[in-house]
Amino acid sequence: MPTILAIESSCDETSAAVCRNEIILSNIIADQKVHSQYGGVVPELASRAHMQNIVPVVEAALSGADCRLEDMDAIAFTQAPGLIGSLLVGAQFAKSLALGMQKPLLAVHHMQAHVVANLIGTSKPQFPLLCLTVSGGHTQIVLARSPTKMEVIGNTIDDAAGEAFDKAAKMLGLPYPGGPLIDRYARQGLPDRFRFAQPQVPGLDFSFSGLKTSILYFLQKELKTNPDFISQNLADLCASVQHTIVTILLKKLQAASLQTGIRQVCLAGGVSANSGLRQRFTALGTELGWNTYIPAFEYCTDNAAMIALTAYYKYLQSDFSPLSVAPTARAIWPETV
Ligand code: KG4
Ligand code: ZN
Repeated sequence: MPTILAIESSCDETSAAVCRNEIILSNIIADQKVHSQYGGVVPELASRAHMQNIVPVVEAALSGADCRLEDMDAIAFTQAPGLIGSLLVGAQFAKSLALGMQKPLLAVHHMQAHVVANLIGTSKPQFPLLCLTVSGGHTQIVLARSPTKMEVIGNTIDDAAGEAFDKAAKMLGLPYPGGPLIDRYARQGLPDRFRFAQPQVPGLDFSFSGLKTSILYFLQKELKTNPDFISQNLADLCASVQHTIVTILLKKLQAASLQTGIRQVCLAGGVSANSGLRQRFTALGTELGWNTYIPAFEYCTDNAAMIALTAYYKYLQSDFSPLSVAPTARAIWPETV
């Protein structure tokens, strides 16, 4: 019955969680407001904020789980991918704890953990499954044969879906991160009012850079004749941008299901908080006879609970890491996955 403390610090959320077996006992997330004034995550500031947050966040995770450090059977952390300065803070903290407490160390792949977030809770998908992982840094379709055996079968060739949301939001004058704001305004707008480019990329890969350019050119043209075009049409613009991004994502997911014959289909990553994506994903699943799964909101965005659960599956296979293990900004997939 292992109890595991996990730390996630790959980008701009400092998070710690405790799990016992497959049960998440606590999941504390401190997000970093400092970046919003810069229009994106500033790596140097993220590392500093992790340094400030990590002790109180770990303490809160332990007390939330009603545990002491001595009760832990292993220490887990996000090893890759992510911002290297951010990863180093979590990695070094986890390694120090493992060394000091003489506990095994578990290095976890962040993208594997996003998929595993679907296994938190009572309604679990069966394997094999497909997972559309959509975040600020990644857009992937993953074929998972088990919690530890996964393969990426589709990937973005340029921007990630979250980046497309955030860049479109920036063009519309919305602050960073703009994805949730586009979602909010889109609820009052018409999704088919404006048409934007949908890229033609072969296979299961994605592209969002053409969409970005198409929005930019469209806005430049309209603003020439009406400087208030954006404010007068904000809801319809947001709804149309969101509709286009969701259409691009779901087309490829449908193709992946057709190609593999897999009908256990999951969402993961920060963009899976998007209400338009959630609604259309669920509706498509009903239409095509899929069993669909979306993690609870706190497990969609970056969180240590997903790291803890992934670490639990690695623990069962005694897949421990030496103290010399180093975080890496990029991660080759699959390595140990
Ligand atoms: O997974 P995540 O928390 O962090 C990583 O990028 O790893 O994802 C953050 C991304 C941001 O681009 C943010 O704008 C987007 O997820 N996002 C959303 C929504 N909530 C978060 N995009 C659209 N609609 C949302 N409701
Ligand atoms: Zn993430």
